[in-house]
Amino acid sequence: MAPLYGVLGYPVKHSLSPAMFGAAFYAYDMDARYEHFEVHPDDIRMFLKEAREKPIMGFSVTIPHKESIMPFLDGLDKHARAIGAVNTVANVNGKLKGYNTDWSGAQKALEDVTELEGKSVLILGAGGSARAITYACAQAGAEVTVLNRTLKKAQELADQFNVNAGALNEISNYRPHILIHTTSVGMTPNVKESLVPADFFMRGMVVLDIVYNPLETKLVKDAKRAECRIVPGYKMLLYQGEKQFEIWFNKKPRTDKMEEALLERFKEF
Ligand code: ATR
Repeated sequence: MAPLYGVLGYPVKHSLSPAMFGAAFYAYDMDARYEHFEVHPDDIRMFLKEAREKPIMGFSVTIPHKESIMPFLDGLDKHARAIGAVNTVANVNGKLKGYNTDWSGAQKALEDVTELEGKSVLILGAGGSARAITYACAQAGAEVTVLNRTLKKAQELADQFNVNAGALNEISNYRPHILIHTTSVGMTPNVKESLVPADFFMRGMVVLDIVYNPLETKLVKDAKRAECRIVPGYKMLLYQGEKQFEIWFNKKPRTDKMEEALLERFKEF
């Protein structure tokens, strides 16, 4: 049987990872499979036992398991430990090691468009995605402020990474080099919503909305109109997948083919 890989989540049928890794395996004519593993939170330990023994050689981890899986793994890389979340697991001789590639995916997506060192970055939202992105920006030497509807959560996140926090309703007091939106506001079907007033955007500001469904959110449309520099949200997904491939196979994937597959899937949205 071909070595088995996949994505662990609950629910997980909507995941774009199978399309992306299907294309990556095809590009190198690799003998490997990539499947959905839909596992209820109560069944995680049983799944991991099977993953060690079956074996499953590697898997992506998505909602709601990114944090809760950590105590049951056999090892963690330092970034996953620092962020407090795992999105990638590799099986090495029956031992499951957890990694985080969300942060490096975000960093690479941003660095396609801008340097981060010394830049002011405003991050909207304080959930799991914001945590990885805050880590990515702080690691790269940016000056980060996290704004959230619930100030307490922004403060907790900011304390974790030694950055600044504020309330979302004070957004107009900020004028960052880089704006990153990490909540689900604006996602299909709520495509007319945006947390950012249109007059906030300034020419040349770098803007990343991690919502990629639709590909162009209201936030991104407003930012484009103001001549901001846009980082496409799907690039974070693409580059976190690229890094996962490197962890599992110790070589670089054909990222161009993975991107093609993703863009093809977006046409179906
Ligand atoms: P994820 O792990 O995907 O990043 P999450 O942990 O559910 O998501 O976090 C969602 C984030 O989106 C939170 O920061 C949340 O703000 P609160 O902490 O105040 O709940 C934010 N969010 C969700 N809906 C929002 C809305 N309508 N307006 C403002 N912020 C919103």
